[in-house]
Amino acid sequence: MQISDELRQSVIRSLPELSEISDESLRNQVIDAWAYSLGHSSFKSIDEIRASGNPDTPKLKSGTQTDHIRGVTQLAIAIADSLANQFPKLPINRDMLVACALCHDVGKPFEFDPKNQERWRDNPAASGFPAIRHTQYGTHVCLTIGLPEEVCHAAGCHSGEGELVERSLHVTIVHHADYAFWASMKVGGQLAI
Ligand SMILES: [Fe+2]
Repeated sequence: MQISDELRQSVIRSLPELSEISDESLRNQVIDAWAYSLGHSSFKSIDEIRASGNPDTPKLKSGTQTDHIRGVTQLAIAIADSLANQFPKLPINRDMLVACALCHDVGKPFEFDPKNQERWRDNPAASGFPAIRHTQYGTHVCLTIGLPEEVCHAAGCHSGEGELVERSLHVTIVHHADYAFWASMKVGGQLAI
């Protein structure tokens, strides 16, 4: 498996919240996951990816996919820290929570890739549309990198697919942070229609 150092540096530049992960090996796996995902797409940076939840849903008026990943991660940290402060028995592993938040959309480079979108739109009856969503591709990326199972669970189950299973505590927080992000931006007039 080849991951370029250039893409690793691009991920580090985009996501300052990586510093919130104290475990160096987990932090490096999160960087590798994004670098691997970008390396198998047309994108060279998370900043180049459309700032929307799905390729065809409204995007942020200003900002990029990086602002979404960072926003959700900061929201998830705020929720977790607040709850842990009030309820110390809540089993929150902060490193795991941050890794889950940073990786929840790690599959987007594949689903949002214009080449894949074009191929799927060309003949949906043959390919399915989309053939593979970011949740499924993100699970593949996390498994390939060898990230902990719960981070794979975050990539795969933060969205609608998670309604078919019982989400873990960290992924429940990430799911609500993700949905709160898009709902707040919509109601607050920050999405381009
Ligand atoms: Fe998201």
